[in-house]
Amino acid sequence: MSTLFDPIKIGDIELANRIVMAPLTRNRSPKAVPGPLVATYYAQRATAGLLITEATAISHQGQGYADVPGLYTREALDGWKKVTDGVHKAGGKIVVQMWHVGRISHTSLQPDGGKPVSASAIQAKSKTYLINDDGTGTFAETSEPRALELSEIPGIIEDYRKAARASIDAGFDGVEIHAANGYLIDQFLRSGSNVRTDAYGGPIENRARFLFEVVDAITKEIGEGRTGIRISPVTPANDASDPDAQALFTYVVEGLATYKLAYIHIIEGATGGPRDFQQGDKPFDYKALCAAYEKAGGDAAWMVNNGYDRALAIEAVEKGRADLVAFGKPFISNPDLVQRLKDDAPLNAPDQRTFYGGGAKGYTDYPTLDEAA
Ligand SMILES: Cc1cc2nc3c(=O)[nH]c(=O)nc-3n(C[C@H](O)[C@H](O)[C@H](O)COP(=O)(O)O)c2cc1C
Repeated sequence: MSTLFDPIKIGDIELANRIVMAPLTRNRSPKAVPGPLVATYYAQRATAGLLITEATAISHQGQGYADVPGLYTREALDGWKKVTDGVHKAGGKIVVQMWHVGRISHTSLQPDGGKPVSASAIQAKSKTYLINDDGTGTFAETSEPRALELSEIPGIIEDYRKAARASIDAGFDGVEIHAANGYLIDQFLRSGSNVRTDAYGGPIENRARFLFEVVDAITKEIGEGRTGIRISPVTPANDASDPDAQALFTYVVEGLATYKLAYIHIIEGATGGPRDFQQGDKPFDYKALCAAYEKAGGDAAWMVNNGYDRALAIEAVEKGRADLVAFGKPFISNPDLVQRLKDDAPLNAPDQRTFYGGGAKGYTDYPTLDEAA
């Protein structure tokens, strides 16, 4: 029997334990460049088996929030190289979450102030985060998007490929494809945001085409064993909706089973909300999803997330329901989360007011157990 604290090899990456830091946007990278404070933050958390970075834009067009980092300028990649060096020096492993927000953006963040792009021209009932000239932050409604032309899609796939190469060159151990939470890949997947009538819309096979083209391009560039993917079958985040998530995501994982990926990362329920959240009239069956993946020959590590505490995480791994457990908010406020889980020590509570934007406060100043003592 494996435990949460045992090492594991996922694809080409060796992890010291099965505790993962979930991707967490923190809006502390002005001009899309992660600086020294960002490097300190990740290095502080390097005892996690795996760190997944905050969502990081593959292109300027893929940007949707103020002060989130990118993978498309020399300065940003140099900043990331310092992050990966710091994490490796501290004995950790780190992958970058590759992001194109699609319609969850604002014209003020887009190249030339243009409309954000999506599968279809359907505005999301959602908000994005902007920073005003005086440095204060505000939430603003996402702008109306335009539907991508067929001829533009290969260019976006190419942006993913280039960003994957640049990530490995910047020292990352791998990448996580962000196909969750209502962003561009998820916008193509779900019928609530995709009403295209070409090869990328209509039946599930067509709606999933964009995802598999991204997976194909990235795995060919950097290897299947350095690639993971995150999905959120039922989340309503960013106005994501589909009446038959079970069929859609069964098709997705069966397709993913044909690649030897590092891991499949599943957000169970509503991201940051109820674990039993459902879309449609039936509860989502995660066990059936995993079984379908395995039946189709998939053997990547199965990573779960959303509302896990110590007991639930230990049980998930010991019962074989998951190989890895990703923690989000607990990692914001506990740089030494692994030690605290091992010792069954109390956790620092996260301060929501400093989640998005700001400096060291609520970012790099949460004490470890030793510091608190
Ligand atoms: C401040 C904050 C930022 C987040 N940023 C991201 C992100 O960049 N990418 C992503 O996929 N999920 C993001 N999430 C969702 C988390 O990865 C995770 O799914 C969620 O917090 C539930 O896990 P938890 O209960 O362990 O916190 C974010 C959540 C929070 C609280």
